[in-house]
Parts: sequence; C-alpha cells; structure tokens
Amino acid sequence: MNSDAKKQALRQITYGLYIVTSQSGDMVVAGTVNWLSQASFDPPLVMMGAKADSGLHTAMGNSGVCAINFLSADQQDVAQDFFKPTNVDGNKINGHAFTTGSTGSPILDDVYAYLECKVSDNVALGDHTVFVAEVVDAGHRREDKPLEMWPTNWFYGG
Ligand SMILES: Cc1cc2nc3c(=O)[nH]c(=O)nc-3n(C[C@H](O)[C@H](O)[C@H](O)COP(=O)(O)O)c2cc1C
Repeated sequence: MNSDAKKQALRQITYGLYIVTSQSGDMVVAGTVNWLSQASFDPPLVMMGAKADSGLHTAMGNSGVCAINFLSADQQDVAQDFFKPTNVDGNKINGHAFTTGSTGSPILDDVYAYLECKVSDNVALGDHTVFVAEVVDAGHRREDKPLEMWPTNWFYGG
C-alpha cells in the first residue's frame, strides 16, 4: 500500500466536530472529536473513536456515560478550546458554562443540541477504542447548522 495515498484517501472521509464530555467521580473531561457517527436506529446507537491514552477514554470507560455537544457552524473557536486538557473552574469547563445532564455528563450552555449516552460496548483494537453508546436523552434548543470539519482545514485522520 502507498502510505501517502492511504493518508490522503482516509482524509476524504467527511466529519462533523463535537465536544464529547464525561464525568467519572471527580474527574470531568471534555474533548473535541470528529470520529463520531450514528450506528443504529433501534436502539439509537452512536459510535466514537476515543484516543486510548486520553482522559475522555478513561472517563467514558469508568463511568459508562458521555454527552455529545453539537457546535454550530460559527463555533470553531469553541472547538479549539477543547483540544486543550480539561480545566474545570466553578461552573465552567475550559471557559464555557455547563450544567450537568441526566447521565451526569456536562452539557455546555452554548451548544444548540446535545445527546446523552450510555456506553453499550467497546472495541479496543488500535490506538483509539471504538465506543458504542446508546442515546438515552437528547436536547434540541434551536435550529442551527452544525460545525463541519472540512472548512476548518483541520485534519484528524489518515
Ligand atoms: C482536529 C482534531 C480532531 C480530534 N478528534 C478526536 C477524535 O475523534 N477522538 C479522540 O479521541 N480525540 C480527538 N482529538 C484529540 C482530542 O481533542 C484531545 O485528545 C482531547 O481534547 C484532549 O484530551 P486529553 O488531554 O485527555 O488527551 C482531536 C484533536 C484534533 C486537533
């Protein structure tokens, strides 16, 4: 296999950008991810690739819950804030206010939609683990357009 062709072809997969959060005991974690998709209608499942050595992986693995926060197209700056390690200060994570959702996962105040999920299974075969999670709660606060990966010129894939 030509490794450059593999990298470039894998980068043609289209993605959105989401802030995934989880809380396990005192450990609150939030990170921007793009390896995320719906995976079943019934039950409603999503799947996500989580970096094996990340805080998100630890918190989701231990708590079995997470929330997916949907950014709008004009919130690229918010996505940027969640590439950094998680810092919780009062009711803010990385400078953004949140409330705790029904699964115990943080829901950011400035997102237009969110899903709360319970982890059903995981597949740990590479440097990321595929978590499969069932949607158990959801919010849709207003109509908006989601933040997509391609126009940002960011890449996480290849
Ligand atoms: C453009 C971009 C996309 C990312 N997508 C993912 C992803 O799909 N899954 C993931 O686990 N980490 C992803 N990351 C890395 C996380 O954002 C980063 O590991 C996390 O916010 C920091 O958490 P940590 O300190 O626990 O590692 C991505 C990073 C960038 C720059």
